[in-house]
Amino acid sequence: MRVKGKIVLVTGSGSGIGRAIASLFAAEGASVVASDISENAAQTVEQIRTQGGKAAVVIGDVGDQDACNRMVNTAQESFGGLHAVIHAAAISRKGTVTTMKEEDWRDVVNVNLNSAFYLSKAAVPLLSQGGGAIVFIASQLGLVGAKDSIAYSAAKGAVVNMARSMALDHAPDGIRVNSLCPGPIDTPFLHASFQRQADPERARALALDKIPLARFGTPIEIANAALFLASDEASFITGATLAADGGYTAW
Ligand SMILES: NC(=O)c1ccc[n+]([C@@H]2O[C@H](COP(=O)([O-])OP(=O)(O)OC[C@H]3O[C@@H](n4cnc5c(N)ncnc54)[C@H](O)[C@@H]3O)[C@@H](O)[C@H]2O)c1
Repeated sequence: MRVKGKIVLVTGSGSGIGRAIASLFAAEGASVVASDISENAAQTVEQIRTQGGKAAVVIGDVGDQDACNRMVNTAQESFGGLHAVIHAAAISRKGTVTTMKEEDWRDVVNVNLNSAFYLSKAAVPLLSQGGGAIVFIASQLGLVGAKDSIAYSAAKGAVVNMARSMALDHAPDGIRVNSLCPGPIDTPFLHASFQRQADPERARALALDKIPLARFGTPIEIANAALFLASDEASFITGATLAADGGYTAW
């Protein structure tokens, strides 16, 4: 019960890491607003309720300010406030500056970076009422470059530095802002990234080869790190970047 009584908004909670985060926070005593562009978030909420947890669902696009306002308003209306936001929703498209279409660049930057601005804009006034925490789920590709991933890497790197700047701006409001950088994690997102390559099996083997711990991570391993960063156990941690990547960025 490490977040007992806290009210938490989790984006991307219809799948993978976001779903694991929503479930873990609920199991640890939080009331969870589970949001996603996909209806799968409703299943996450159903699972949480079946296990005796408290949760509400919001279906909406994090790349849209009105939808982000709705997510935050749901926390207030359903549970009476907001203590933490965990932003896990994201998309990826492959491409270099020469091969990527401008439309794909805009989509990735909107869903992965602008969303952090929209969500924060909606959430900060409510979080500052009693203090709170924001955790941006970035990526190991926010810390190092990657071939054929220009927009995703750019957006994730920007989110990491946005967390640092927000930590400075909102420390006086009692809001801690940190970023969490997963390495390759066993989710539909990772499998889709292999499928976009000409030889998916080779892409998978190459990815594994870059991980000192010699395996992909699991969603719960990222959820545990997010829980720590959002909880009072991390009360002196703000503006930090935590890599949970099996050593990918330690090379
Ligand atoms: N899986 C990995 O290997 C890995 C590695 C590094 C970072 N990450 C990051 O972890 C986070 C979660 O990834 P995952 O692996 O669980 O992916 P996932 O694809 O399993 O889940 C992502 C969720 O985000 C939702 N989503 C996509 N666009 C959205 C939008 N516009 N509005 C609202 N929701 C939207 C999807 O519907 C999906 O449910 C992402 O930020 C991703 O960049 C993942």
